Amino acid sequence: MSPILPPTETNLDRAADLLQGGQLVGLPTETVYGVAANALDPAAVARIYAAKDRPSFNPLIVHVSAKRSTVEALERSGLVDVERLSPSARAIVERLTERWPGPLTLVLPRGPKVPDLTTAGLDTVAIRCPDHPVAQALLGRLDSPLAAPSANRSGGISPTTAQDVHDELGDRVAMVIDGGPCEEGLESTVVHIGHDGAVTLLRPGTLDRASLSALAGGPVLDADPQGGSPRSPGMGSRHYAPRSPFLALPARCVDLSAADRARLYERASKASVVGVLCWSAQDAASVPRCLPSAEVHALALTHLGDPQEAARRLFSTLRALDALGADLLLAEPCPPFADPQGVAHALRDRLQRATQPL
Ligand code: TXA
Ligand code: MG
Repeated sequence: MSPILPPTETNLDRAADLLQGGQLVGLPTETVYGVAANALDPAAVARIYAAKDRPSFNPLIVHVSAKRSTVEALERSGLVDVERLSPSARAIVERLTERWPGPLTLVLPRGPKVPDLTTAGLDTVAIRCPDHPVAQALLGRLDSPLAAPSANRSGGISPTTAQDVHDELGDRVAMVIDGGPCEEGLESTVVHIGHDGAVTLLRPGTLDRASLSALAGGPVLDADPQGGSPRSPGMGSRHYAPRSPFLALPARCVDLSAADRARLYERASKASVVGVLCWSAQDAASVPRCLPSAEVHALALTHLGDPQEAARRLFSTLRALDALGADLLLAEPCPPFADPQGVAHALRDRLQRATQPL
């Protein structure tokens, strides 16, 4: 099995050598762990798709060093074709890159150095500058940027610890660097910048729409699922799914209508082990008496009513539910948190794609 190693200078040198040689390395970022390869080497990028069983139509995010994250540097390194941005679009990109390093991915006109495989043949490229000292230390050792999708098997739960990467990918990666548990816990906010400067939200994240709009100095549009506006090829499919059937409840167990309660009873009476995702310790405590099943495990996402804490713990809690080997998993709905950061939008998005309706 490939090793999990602490981020010592020696281990970072070793990781850089492996990456330069076209190998894959499990990499901590502030959002989730990535599986990294040289973004400019098609053979290395092909190994990412193979390791994740990722469909080849789903493009990768290119991670750059903070030293090479300005618009001029992205142009000079051939990653972005800045010529295809109008002056006002370029000004918006410059303002947005001020949020780097951080959990923000910008989809921009693709430059000549980026291989087809990295962008799945699109004429845009997704760029992000991660805010994690280990990721930056590694990027700083390399001449090339790193392609790094979340280090889970395609469709699985994103990893937030080095051990998760090991559990997902085993020796499909040459090594995993342990940077501790991820601070944010949800993947970066992805936005597309049109040549005219239109900013479209492709994937909500912990950097919310209001902050984005303030940064960009204008409105942030929603992606149109019917086509027309820019879209993210990886966003349509189901994702983050545990192995057991995982149902979204329309209300907390204690608040279900009589009809919904009857439907839940019917499902749960056939299941001897049930896992439930709850949003507070009080909710978790009240769940078992609402269910007929012999064994009920209710896990709380936050103890402080804090959406950032819930975000940090969402994927590790989904993993814990998955590990129960339950016959049925249930999720109570995300509450209307006092949420000035707007993180609940991202939480609802992830949960919606992990579950099916009751
Ligand atoms: O926080 C993150 O972004 C993490 C860490 C490891 O950096 N990475 C991550 O990568 O979440 P991944 O591959 O799991 O998700 C990337 C998303 C996918 O939905 C993909 O379709 C979209 O970004 N994407 C990448 N390039 C794109 C492009 N050129 N146009 C539209 N969407 C793109
Ligand atoms: Mg992913």
